[in-house]
Amino acid sequence: MRRLGSVTLGLVLSLLVLTSAAAQVAPQPAPEAVFFGSVPTRGGVALVAVTGETPVTVLLDALRDEGCEPELLAVTIGGRFRLYSPDAPAFANREFPDPLVPPRAAIVSCSPASQVRDAHLVQLVTKDHALPADFVPEDLVALPEQWTLPGLGSERLTAEAAAALEEMLQAASDAGHEIVVRSAYRSYEEQVYTYQYWVDILGATEADRRSARPGHSEHQLGTVVDLTNAEVGWDLLPEFGDTPGGQWLKEHAAEYGFVESYPEGAEAITGYLYEPWHLRYVGTYHASLLEFTGLTLTEYLGQLQSSSN
Ligand code: DAL
Ligand code: ZN
Repeated sequence: MRRLGSVTLGLVLSLLVLTSAAAQVAPQPAPEAVFFGSVPTRGGVALVAVTGETPVTVLLDALRDEGCEPELLAVTIGGRFRLYSPDAPAFANREFPDPLVPPRAAIVSCSPASQVRDAHLVQLVTKDHALPADFVPEDLVALPEQWTLPGLGSERLTAEAAAALEEMLQAASDAGHEIVVRSAYRSYEEQVYTYQYWVDILGATEADRRSARPGHSEHQLGTVVDLTNAEVGWDLLPEFGDTPGGQWLKEHAAEYGFVESYPEGAEAITGYLYEPWHLRYVGTYHASLLEFTGLTLTEYLGQLQSSSN
């Protein structure tokens, strides 16, 4: 199951390559929307590959035939994904002039975000979106010492995230990469100390580029880990992303449902400097869609949230 997202992604990408190759040598196939798995009519996001120069209207009709009333649609245009909401005037008129837009692939949400698949894993937590101070995940479990840094006390995650993490770190270990957890769940109160630590060293302006203020840290969700290895002295450094273990994570973390929250060069979007060590568990479904779109987690979760409002 864990690798289903990657398999699906592979199918989609293969189909896209085949489709574009075929388009150069063969007559245009009849417009057709190809669905992977069932289109969720209540809850969830569907991944759709589209053959030929399929007009968006054909795609929308095909979705409606499947019982999906599109609420959020992402299409490839010029090699990039663009997101549309039916609430935006562009959804019906400007951005989808029939039959001009040739989507090659699309992601569509057919339901409010409250019904989004794995909704408990996709809460938006940013500088603008806080958790209640008293929010504590219900099912925190201690991570086995084997996967944590000695001497820092026990680290905890939700049971679901912990199981996925253990599977991922075991796979990394099997591939020759020793990676351990330096920090996992942090309570609101612990984040008070963490943030103040950075303010004392760097001042508030620089601290805000590195540390979330209390209530604004994804660590409070219990689904986030900071990972490290010997190559970076078991510290949390940007160079971690260049180590063999860090590279392995970039390639494989999504297969286990983990994604980077703060990728390189995205401070203007995420609000934080590059943190290759900070991985959030969103499940394989959303991780594969994120990988497919190339959106940051901040953008992706923001879109999921706004589609439900
Ligand atoms: N370092 C990240 C932004 C946090 O404090 O949650
Ligand atoms: Zn972190």
